[in-house]
Amino acid sequence: MTETLFHRPALATRLSKLIMQVAVGSSASSGVFLAAPRRTGKSTFAREDLRPALEAAGAIVLYADLWKDLTNDPGLVIVEAVREAVGRNDGFITRLAKSSGMDKVTVGGMNFSLDKIGLGKDIDLTTALVALSDESQKIIVLMIDEAQHAITTSEGVAALFALKAARDELNSSKHHGLRIVCTGSNRDKLAMLRNSKDQAFFGASMVQFPTLDQDFIDWLCANLDLPCALDPTEVFQLFKESGYRPELLGAAADEIRFDFTIDPATIPARFTELVRAQADELYANLKKVIHSLTPIQSAVIRVMSVKGDNYAPFEAPTMALYAKALAQAGIAASEIKVEVPGVQQALIALQEKKLVWKASRGVYAVDEHVIVDLLRADGLLGGLS
Ligand SMILES: Nc1ncnc2c1ncn2[C@@H]1O[C@H](COP(=O)(O)OP(=O)(O)O)[C@@H](O)[C@H]1O
Ligand SMILES: [Mg+2]
Repeated sequence: MTETLFHRPALATRLSKLIMQVAVGSSASSGVFLAAPRRTGKSTFAREDLRPALEAAGAIVLYADLWKDLTNDPGLVIVEAVREAVGRNDGFITRLAKSSGMDKVTVGGMNFSLDKIGLGKDIDLTTALVALSDESQKIIVLMIDEAQHAITTSEGVAALFALKAARDELNSSKHHGLRIVCTGSNRDKLAMLRNSKDQAFFGASMVQFPTLDQDFIDWLCANLDLPCALDPTEVFQLFKESGYRPELLGAAADEIRFDFTIDPATIPARFTELVRAQADELYANLKKVIHSLTPIQSAVIRVMSVKGDNYAPFEAPTMALYAKALAQAGIAASEIKVEVPGVQQALIALQEKKLVWKASRGVYAVDEHVIVDLLRADGLLGGLS
């Protein structure tokens, strides 16, 4: 089988250096945050390119994907990544456990089993990571994919604080270092992990993760294997237009591949048409959801969109803005009264519709920036500040 992935070794090496070798005055030891929109190749890059580059540079890499299974608490997913790495390491603990064929083993008078590692357990994350660091003599890199999800639960927040403590300990001269790399689809949400002093990653560097580029498109066009070649320059333009999402191109190519009647000469035009249709469809669904909101739900998301970082859901001025938004929609104050329970319900409904995202401490954000763009394009954000 031919390789189905385009690799970015140069980018991986550069990032790996940034993560591993902390320059004087750099805040990279606080953590590195990589942000880029959904479905643009972050996870693929993290797993397929960055991880091997970090390992080649001598690191032990732990990977926690907080979106893989949304029924698992993000805090637990992080703990599991640490357990798994300890279990995978050929250190004394594992060797003993394996040779005895037991889950529990006594090491230095301490009963040990992997599930003893955890938050509020006998062996906290710092102890486990210190053991891993000292045993392996290697720097540890923990990659947390879709890290913003961690602040949606108290267990997740606790895990981040535990990691902060572990990081401070491991980055002291006694050990070999811990670097935390967080990726996420939404810059505003990721920023919540590092912006305020009480957050675990205060001061961490935020890096705009580069989207796939012309080289990727050249590679793709060379490997698409369609009955008629596509012009990489035109395809790149199309890729840009559709938000740098490889899947849209892949799906369009598939449709052409399975169309046995297509005249090869018409393929480039058909390809363009298919990619555009899919990009439109992505937004059409979102538009449908937005247009089916109740008046109060619509008022809440419009005000949230306008207020951005300063959105305070239940403050008097915000409540007044909801009323204003309802009035703009032609709904009189006598018809719908804006009250806290109603706003609470609307916020829950908006979360269920995946338009709004809530961090654990009652901080809300519009789920994707494109939602704000769509509301603005519909002229729904005027006069609300
Ligand atoms: N380097 C790549 N080469 C080929 N296809 C890719 C590459 N990166 C991403 N893709 C495609 O794009 C899709 C989305 O990528 P993913 O890494 O899941 O994005 P993200 O994590 O940013 O949401 C993947 O399913 C894959 O098909
Ligand atoms: Mg991903």
